[in-house]
This record gives sequence, C-alpha cells and structure tokens, in this order.
Amino acid sequence: MASSYMPRLYQLRGVSSALKRVHLPCTHRATPCLNKRFASTEPEPIATITKKNKKSPLRKFIFRSSIAFVLFGGYLYFTDTRASAHRYIAVPIIRWLFPDAEDAHHAGVAALRELYKFGLHFRERSSPDLGGKLATQVFGYTLSNPIGISGGLDKHAEIPDPLFALGAAVVEVGGTTPLPQDGNPKPRVFRIVSQSGMINRYGLNSKGADHMAKVLKQRVREFAYANGYGYSDAGEERVLNGEAGVPPGSLNEGKLLAVQVAKNKVTPESDIAAVTRDYVYCVDRVAPYADIVVVNVSSPNTPGLRGLQAAGPLTEILKGVVGAAKRIDRKTKPFVMVKVSPDEDSEEQVDGICHAVRESGVDGVIVGNTTNRRPEPLPYRYPLSSKEEQTMTETGGYSGPQLFERTVALVSRYKQKLSDAGSQKTIFASGGITNGKQAQAVLDAGASVAMMYTAITFGGIGTVTRVKNELRQERSL
Ligand SMILES: Cc1cc2nc3c(=O)[nH]c(=O)nc-3n(C[C@H](O)[C@H](O)[C@H](O)COP(=O)(O)O)c2cc1C
Repeated sequence: MASSYMPRLYQLRGVSSALKRVHLPCTHRATPCLNKRFASTEPEPIATITKKNKKSPLRKFIFRSSIAFVLFGGYLYFTDTRASAHRYIAVPIIRWLFPDAEDAHHAGVAALRELYKFGLHFRERSSPDLGGKLATQVFGYTLSNPIGISGGLDKHAEIPDPLFALGAAVVEVGGTTPLPQDGNPKPRVFRIVSQSGMINRYGLNSKGADHMAKVLKQRVREFAYANGYGYSDAGEERVLNGEAGVPPGSLNEGKLLAVQVAKNKVTPESDIAAVTRDYVYCVDRVAPYADIVVVNVSSPNTPGLRGLQAAGPLTEILKGVVGAAKRIDRKTKPFVMVKVSPDEDSEEQVDGICHAVRESGVDGVIVGNTTNRRPEPLPYRYPLSSKEEQTMTETGGYSGPQLFERTVALVSRYKQKLSDAGSQKTIFASGGITNGKQAQAVLDAGASVAMMYTAITFGGIGTVTRVKNELRQERSL
C-alpha cells in the first residue's frame, strides 16, 4: 500500500514537502536508512521526478535572464516619467488605497524620498531639456525649461531633488514658519475628483525654520562631499559660493530652488513688527540654501494672513525680508518674491501690492494661490454628485483647473502694472495650470515660469514631462 501511495504523493506535493511529511525510503536518503518499513521500497518514482525537475544549465540561464530582463525592463518603464501607467494606473490606485488625500500626500512624499535614496527614483530618461527649446532666462540664470512645482507639495524640504528629477526647473519648498506648528485638525485636504480639484486647509503645518535649515544644510554637505569639496564647513561654503558651477539653492544646473517662508499662526497679524520678525527669522535660517525666497502672505488658512497684503504692512514686511536676504553671508544673494492671493484682485488691492513690491525692492511676484471662492464646475454646468457638492462646502482654499482663467487674467494685470511703473519684476504663475497650452498662455501673459501643484496630484509623477512635451508642440505649431 505504501509503495503505490508514495509516487502520487511526491508528484502532488513536490519533493521537498513530501520529504518533510513522510518517512523516506532509504534508497533516496544520504544518511543510512533507519526505517525498516521502507527498506525495500523501489527507487523508480523519485528518479523519474528528479529527472523531470532537473533543468539543464542552459535552461536555467535562459530562465534567470528572462526574469532579470523583465525586472529591469519594468524598472526602466516605471521609473520613466513618460510612462502613462503613472497617470492611468498609479494615481487611481493611490486614491483607492488612501481615501484621505493627506495620507496619499504623505505616502507619495515618502515613496519619492526613499526611492531617491536608493537611486531608484522616477526621472526623465529622455533628457527632453537637452535641445534647449524650452530654455528661458530667469534672474540672470538660463533655466532648462519654464515649468515649476508650487509651494506646499514639499512642505518640509524632504524631496527637492526627486522633484527636480521629475523635470521641473523651479521647485518651491515650504512654507516654513519660525516655530514648528501643527496646522489645522484633520481631515484638512479634500479631493473633488470629477473636477480634478482640491480644497485644503492645512494651515501651514511646519516643522519650523530651524528644522528646514538643518535638512537643507545636510543636502548641501552631501553634495559638497560627493563632488570632492569635503564634508565640512569649508566644503559647504565653497558650494554655496558657487565654486561647483551650479546655483547654490538647487545644486542643479539650469534649475532654481525656491524656499517659502511664512509667519506663525500665534503671531498677531496686527503687530507688523512681530510679523516681520517672523519672516526675517525664517530668512536668516533658510535663505543661505535658497536661490529664491518666497514670502507667503496669501494662504487662506492662516487667519489674518491675507490682510498683510495691504500696501502699508506688506511694504514693511517685504523691506524686512529683502534686507535680511541681502545680509546672507553668500557671494550671490537669494532673490525675493512675494506670493499673492487670487482673491484680493480689486484695482486698489492689486495697485497696493504692486506699490509694496516696488517700494521694498522685491524681485518678483508669484500670482497666485488657492482661492476662497468656489468656482463653477467644468465643463460648464457639470452636475457634481451630492458628495462632491458637500465637499465643496468645506472650509479652505480651492485649487485646480477652474483657477486657470483667473490666473491668466491676473498675471496680465500684474505684468502690466509692474512694467508701467518702469520696474521690471519677474512673475511666476500658479493656479489651475494643467497642460502645455495653458502653460504657454501664462507665459504669453507675462509669466516667466508656470507652476503646478494640483495637476500633479491628479496627473501623477509624469505631469511635468507631459506639460513640457505639450509646450514644445505648442511652440512648433
Ligand atoms: C494641499 C495643498 C497644500 C498647499 N500648501 C501651500 C503652501 O504651504 N504654501 C503656499 O504658498 N501654497 C500652498 N498651496 C497652493 C499651491 O502652491 C498653488 O499655489 C495652488 O494650489 C494653485 O495652483 P494649482 O491649481 O496648480 O494647484 C497648496 C495647495 C494645495 C492643494
């Protein structure tokens, strides 16, 4: 009975599991047989199976090479920003895995950070900027392209390099505040999927300017070490003073790093001297590692912050920041921009901001930020689901494609007003940009850089590459 049962068992469960489960006949054991019951068992079934399972070296080689080839091909595909799987597979999966948009944000940042550490990060494998077709001049630098990533996506400066690798020529990290602060209670970020839009009321959650300065300093040190300047104060100084031939903030040729600064929620907005001290504190810490310092007076989620855009207070704050940026101990000083709201758009308000920009010596304006308004759905009269109708009533700043028309109009107005007065100020556009045609439109309206945030969360890590491709097509029409 035992001998007729054994071969079937081997075939069914495989040799190794069978070895564990039944007493083996002695003929198949390396050690002498102690089991008298199997002493006379026939060897034939094992021999047959061993023969079957044994692969020739050539077959083994082909099998292993095929696996290696598939893995390597998969790696090349998934880390290439041109892969449409990011947009059509990864983004929906992330939304499904993380119903809370903030959790998805954290997971995305962690993934970008960790993959970069191991050199497995997403990147532009086609080097689309090499032809120079999208090259543009900003603050005396030749940027490889005019596309940027807006503030808030990398709040704690954890992933500037992975974001540069996605193809952006400008990456804005922050905003950071002098003291760490938690921001508003969760949930505080909401998706309106049918509109590819978002509402957020993060409330400038920040680990604080000292923390951000530490992270950025470490990044410069690692760069200095990797490029032969040593892991020391002297090495850091040499890189920051431009000896490495790259901008001191981005550490990437043809790219610029903007660092955004803001005030703490607890600092009373009525005390302009205290508010100015908040911004200056941040500038003193982080500006040595920035190509551009961005002053955030336009987040809708810090009570009273937007009130600081009135001409008087804004002039004082910006003067303080410009002074602090000029005092930075570095050969080239960081440029200063102010990020303004799309909602403070009356003639008087825009005039007031332009006045403050000219008076203070600020170098440029980022137009704009999220809106407190709730724009009409797109396409016109699109019926939102009742759940999305409900989401639209959440408090916070709205972002997404519906902002675009307002952004173009506002960029034109700022351009005109700032040029009228004879001051050449640089403008970056932020708000609702999702494709190359729109990027070209804001550039035509007077912006030097078209920045994106929400489009990346809905379009995935290939968004910058796609928009640049579309931009190139626009230009060759
Ligand atoms: C979740 C989220 C967080 C943001 N955080 C910041 C921030 O910390 N500082 C800031 O100036 N803007 C912040 N923004 C605004 C964006 O930088 C951008 O100006 C705005 O979303 C409009 O552009 P978009 O339509 O391309 O998203 C945030 C936007 C979103 C959606």
